[in-house]
Amino acid sequence: MIQRRTVLKTGAALTGTLGSAGLLVPALADAAPATEPAGDLDPTGIAQFTQPMPVPKVLQPSAVSSTTTYYKMTMKEVDVQLVPGYTSRVRTFNGSFPGPVIKAVSGRRVVVQQTNQLPVPASVHLHGAHVPQSSDGSPMDLIAAGGGTKTYTYPNSQPHANLWLHDHAHHYEAETVYRGLSGFYLLTDTEEQKLSLPSGAYDVPIGLSDARLDDTGQLVYAMGDRKRRVLLANGRAWPYFQVAARKYRLRLFNMSNMRFYTLKLADGSAFQQIGGDGGLLEKPVEATSVALSPGERADLVVDFSRYAEGTTLVLENTAARYPDDPAEQIGRVLQFRVGAPAADASRVPATLRTLPPLGTATVNRSFELYTDESGATMDSSINGKTYDMDRIDTEVEYGATEIWSVRNANTRVPHNFHMHLVQFRVLERGGKPVTSGPESGLKDTVSVMPGETVKLQATFTGYEGTYVYHCHMFDHAAMGMMANFRVTRARSVRR
Ligand code: C2O
Ligand code: CU
Ligand code: CU
Repeated sequence: MIQRRTVLKTGAALTGTLGSAGLLVPALADAAPATEPAGDLDPTGIAQFTQPMPVPKVLQPSAVSSTTTYYKMTMKEVDVQLVPGYTSRVRTFNGSFPGPVIKAVSGRRVVVQQTNQLPVPASVHLHGAHVPQSSDGSPMDLIAAGGGTKTYTYPNSQPHANLWLHDHAHHYEAETVYRGLSGFYLLTDTEEQKLSLPSGAYDVPIGLSDARLDDTGQLVYAMGDRKRRVLLANGRAWPYFQVAARKYRLRLFNMSNMRFYTLKLADGSAFQQIGGDGGLLEKPVEATSVALSPGERADLVVDFSRYAEGTTLVLENTAARYPDDPAEQIGRVLQFRVGAPAADASRVPATLRTLPPLGTATVNRSFELYTDESGATMDSSINGKTYDMDRIDTEVEYGATEIWSVRNANTRVPHNFHMHLVQFRVLERGGKPVTSGPESGLKDTVSVMPGETVKLQATFTGYEGTYVYHCHMFDHAAMGMMANFRVTRARSVRR
């Protein structure tokens, strides 16, 4: 099913550090292309900005009690139009790609019953959530294909955050998420709600992903493929989005398997970044671009009131491209079409939140991310070891605060690093302290560029159990760049 050992290793080479904007990178010259389909749909022939970007629907509960909101979701394949004129089979929650939005409130439990009607096993992970192991959707906790069910309980015992529901079945996750199994879970709390940020129709989640289609419109999946040249926003290739001339909150999720984005408005104008993975920053950051590695989220407020009615404005991607990537395809994500002004009582206050205290770390650990960038093998590892679901790599004492130094041991290939269970803080990037800016809030995923070391701090409370950490370039994780940590009160016994 998953040809981990037979697919050619190319999982690499989004080198983000070279070249000025738009120029790109000597990607791996020796990386052989993955299996070629009969014929590719030429992305340069796809009309841009002709179809509207869908806004994902809010999922209605199946039942509500005084403490808990219940939902039912079915994972199934459906045919959708990603590209004008073609239908593509995708894997979805409840038939939508990307999936529906669950709206949750801190302190109130959510229970989701999942039924898997996909042709492959699945494990539903809530990325960024603080949950017991039994509901983490870990790689080994599978729901059988063809009708298996599992009920997940989310305590929501954490502050507001933009969480992401996606498959995590080991060796299937990379392909299944690529094929669409991805949803939004927006957790709010009173601290966030008391702010008058743009809301309702002016608060829009946007899932970004990329795809390669064959000439019949079907998705082509190959591990480490560098030809995913169709960029999708909420499951449409290069859509337009009609906005009123006022402020919008845009919650961007990088749901791509491997792709890094650097997003900016075509006129270079500024917006405010108000949040990241784990909710709001302490203070808004005025920025003209935002970088997102796979799995990262950015919460932006863009003020369209400065544009005249009828203005069109492209959201551009200036991240590094592979040498053969067509500039006008990889360089563009979607188009905003500015309409008439609309009333706007929203505002972005100078102080957004207070972060929980950092605490004092008592344990230091080092991790090294590595993939064989020669292309000779598919070896991908953390601290020299390929993922083994039966091996505990890191024993953590319950309640401990730890500093994890994560180094990218490659010279050309970027990675990133994601931990389950916790939201961490980024202490340092490349030796420089991170005290302000987009990475100064709570995070669960962080880029680690070639040769770079990123220092993180996390506190392991709430649940004992076994969880994973991994590169969130899913093809890398599926090749083995993943490991287990176990949180337990009985650490001394096990050592
Ligand atoms: Cu987005 Cu291990 O997860
Ligand atoms: Cu996760
Ligand atoms: Cu990686």
